[in-house]
Amino acid sequence: MLPGFFPLFIAETSLYDRVMTDRKHLLIVAHNPSPNTQKLVEATMRGASHEAIEGIEVKFVPPLQATPDDVLWADAIILGTTENFGYMSGALKDFFDRIYYPCLERTEAMPFAVYIRAGLDGSGTRIAIGKITTGLKWKPVQESIILHGEYRAEFEDQCEELGMLMAASLESGII
Ligand SMILES: Cc1cc2nc3c(=O)[nH]c(=O)nc-3n(C[C@H](O)[C@H](O)[C@H](O)COP(=O)(O)O)c2cc1C
Repeated sequence: MLPGFFPLFIAETSLYDRVMTDRKHLLIVAHNPSPNTQKLVEATMRGASHEAIEGIEVKFVPPLQATPDDVLWADAIILGTTENFGYMSGALKDFFDRIYYPCLERTEAMPFAVYIRAGLDGSGTRIAIGKITTGLKWKPVQESIILHGEYRAEFEDQCEELGMLMAASLESGII
């Protein structure tokens, strides 16, 4: 082995580790039961993973699989849901049912944002998520985005922008 090679290798590895572990964590928990809602979550991921934003690790977990540990891992969260029967999807409700008490008092001031895909309305979902996140003492970064009416490609632009905004704000320490 060349003299000095090994220590150099170790030094580079530790620097890499430090950079990687210093990265902040953005969690996306979104229900995507249809091709359109699948496009929305992909657009959100695309925005959050923009190449200009380097200091953020982004993780998407469907709500039925998301655990309290995922929430405790996160420095910020984007929630996505459909509106069903005037309320958030059962999947997102199940997520809140399971994470609420394990995360209560451990995730205060968690910055979060919401997008809602609804046929006609979306307001019941916005209000319901607002009540639960108020209980958790999470901090909304912006008003919920309600994507209602006939599906339009511009919804994907809104989700991409949301992902980018959350990741960039987290990276720069604004949230
Ligand atoms: C069982 C069911 C209940 C729904 N309830 C509502 C509702 O209460 N309000 C609303 O605006 N849209 C409602 N929708 C429409 C869904 O929100 C919409 O179909 C879903 O977001 C998927 O959007 P997409 O058709 O663009 O894939 C409902 C859809 C289903 C299947």
